[in-house]
This record gives sequence, structure tokens and C-alpha cells, in this order.
Amino acid sequence: MHVLVTGGAGFIGSALVRRLLAEPDVTRVTTLDALTYAGRRENLEDVAGDARHALIVGDVADDAVCDRALGGGVPSGANANPNATATAGRPDVVFHLAAESHVDRSIERAAVFVTTNVQGTRALLDAARRHATPRFVHVSTDEVYGPLAAPERAREDQPFRPSSPYAVTKAAADMLAQAYHRTYTTPVTVVRMANCYGPRQFPEKLIPLSIARALAGEAIPVYGDGQQVREWMYVEDAVDGLVRAWRSGVPGDAYNVGPGEAEARPNLRVLELLLDRLARPRALLRHVEDRPGHDRRYAIDAARARAQLGWAPRTPLEEGLSRTIDWFVANQAWLRAALDSGDTARFLDAQYGRRLRPT
Ligand code: NAD
Ligand code: TYD
Repeated sequence: MHVLVTGGAGFIGSALVRRLLAEPDVTRVTTLDALTYAGRRENLEDVAGDARHALIVGDVADDAVCDRALGGGVPSGANANPNATATAGRPDVVFHLAAESHVDRSIERAAVFVTTNVQGTRALLDAARRHATPRFVHVSTDEVYGPLAAPERAREDQPFRPSSPYAVTKAAADMLAQAYHRTYTTPVTVVRMANCYGPRQFPEKLIPLSIARALAGEAIPVYGDGQQVREWMYVEDAVDGLVRAWRSGVPGDAYNVGPGEAEARPNLRVLELLLDRLARPRALLRHVEDRPGHDRRYAIDAARARAQLGWAPRTPLEEGLSRTIDWFVANQAWLRAALDSGDTARFLDAQYGRRLRPT
């Protein structure tokens, strides 16, 4: 099996690459990644010496790049990576994770979200169609359903009601994936995942940002009243859902993958757990001006994934949080490099400088 992972240098993608290389029938894994601020070569460091893995540096919104990657060729031009010579041969399955993934960045500037998430998904689906890629797993999010009032939870046939520019682009990508199956029988399976956390998550999302700031003794921004609820899934459980969707999922079907009520927590509770585990004072928490259009609660029903894929989450939040904190404490050079990458310093200052300044 030759597997292609887009976004494989990112948080979930790099965990998926490691998991795939441990699968007995996987002979080759190709990562296609543009190495944006969130895509880091260091995330693939421990597979760098593995001859079965190759990294193609390229943009999924570029038709020529997708065409060559799914056709088994090597992209040429400035972005070509010498390792890419190892990629010859068409992939048997594509996992599409490449995306702009941060809601706050989409609120600041939506343009690149439309290009990467919508146009990029279209370009990759067209390449899959042209090359008759046998399987395509499209990675989507619970955010496509929008906020739900308790005790409601979204099943896969729930209408989409995305709020943020990020969620809207993911909804468009998800619908394109479904449309390509309906229209061209492209064998796409969609997986809609709950909030993930774990090692290597970029320090702009709630958990890694708060770990970074707690370690530095800095104030931690809590948006609004901090009572917004997310269902937290450890990254290895998420990756297990993706592999199962490939192995047992039905093309044309969508699967919600999330731990449900057991791991649902208000943000404030997650931050208290985190500070307690780090032995840092809760006085670091600062309520700040809320995110515009902030979704109050996400909740998905993963009954279909449990019944049809045999998926079940294994990692309770307290345990996953401990592992995540241990990883960040042991990898502070990674953290510093991430905080220095791209325009991260500018972005964090624009987000939090004014909000955290005493009035
Ligand atoms: P991430 O931001 O850590 O990684 C995204 C990766 O995509 C990076 O390596 C980046 O370099 C790459 N990328 C961005 N633009 C690209 C482009 N134009 N061409 C090629 N590569 C590009 O994101 P993540 O948290 O690992 O999320 C992965 C996927 O899972 C995304 O599709 C996201 O929408 C989805 N998802 C994430 C979560 C979560 O909680 N993190 C939850 C549900 C769904
Ligand atoms: P985030 O990690 O950005 O994921 P998403 O918006 O995709 O759910 O945010 C998780 C929750 O934490 C969300 O309700 C927003 C909130 N939040 C804060 O309160 N402070 C922060 O600094 C960040 C980044 C998020």
C-alpha cells in the first residue's frame, strides 16, 4: 500500500504518518505539504531516516502539484524536494488533511482559507478523479454543524450551519467531497472530527497556547466567560478513527469521530486541569474580550463510527493532557521554534496584545 497524506507535516498529519508507517501492509507513505507556518519538518524528524517515507513540498491548491502527486510523479520547480524522487508510483489511498486550521486566523483574514481549504480540496479531488485514486479520506470537522444547544448532538445527516470563515471553508470542502462521490463516484469517505489535542499541536490553539504561556508564567486568555464547550479527543484516537475510516468506511459516507459527552468540558475547566497539572496558579487565567461569532458548544454523535468502524476513544482528557504537557515540557526547543515560525509573533501580538493589556 502506498499512502499519500496531505498536511502530513502538521499536528494530526504527522501523527497519522507515524501510525501509517507502523501498519504492516503500508509500504510507502508520501507527505504532500506546503510547510506553512504550521507545517514543520521537525514534526517528521523521527521518520526522516525511514526510506519508506518521502516529503513533497507543494501546495494542494496547485493543480499541477496534485496531478503529479496523485499520478505518481514528482513535482518540478522551486518547491520540489530532493526526497520526492522516492514518490514514484500512484498512491492507493489519499488522506486529505492539508488546511488552514485556526479559527482566529480565519477571522483575521479569510482569503488563504478559501484558497487552501476550498480550492485545494477541489484540486486534489480533480486529481483523484483523473488518476482514479482507489480511496480518498477527506478530513472534516464538527464545526461544519455549527453550535448546538445541549443536549442536542449532531448526527451525520444534520444540516450544516458553520459560523466562522474557517468552518465555512471546511463545510464547502466537505460538500465538494460528497459532490465528487455523487457526481463522479470518486471513492471519498468523509471524517468529521471533534477538537483534537496532543504533542506537536501548533501553539495558537487553546491547549498548546495555554501550556506555552503557563510555562513562561504569562497570562492565559480565556475568551468571554470560558463556558464554551468542546469535546476533546487525544490525537492518537483521532488518527485511529482516520485509519479505520480507510479500512472499513464506506465510500460516499461520512463518519463523526469524537469522544462525546465523556470528554466534553467547558474551556475554563480544561485550563484549570492544565494549570493544576503544571502546578501553576489559576491566577494566570484572564477573561478577555470574546472571539466574534464564538460557537458556544460543539457536540457530535459518533454512534456510526463506533458501530461501523469499531472506533472507540481510549484516552480520557486527564491522561491525554498529562501526556501532552509532558511532551511540551520535554520539547521546549520545538515550542520556541514554532513560536518563531512564519508570522506567529505578529499574529499572537495582534490577538492578545491589546486584549491582555490592563485597562
Ligand atoms: P495544522 O494546522 O497543524 O496542519 C495543517 C498542515 O497543512 C500543515 O502542515 C500545513 O503546512 C499544511 N498546509 C496548509 N496549507 C497547505 C497547502 N496550501 N498545501 C499543502 N499543505 C498545506 O492542522 P491540524 O490541526 O493538524 O488539522 C489537520 C486537518 O484536520 C485539517 O484539515 C483540519 O481542518 C482538520 N481538523 C482538525 C481538528 C483539530 O482539532 N486540530 C479537528 C477537526 C478537524
Ligand atoms: P481553539 O483551540 O482555537 O479551537 P476551536 O475554535 O476550533 O474550537 O479554541 C478552543 C476553545 O478555546 C474555543 O472555545 C475558543 C477558546 N479559546 C480561548 O478561550 N482562549 C484562547 O486563547 C484560544 C486560542 C481559544
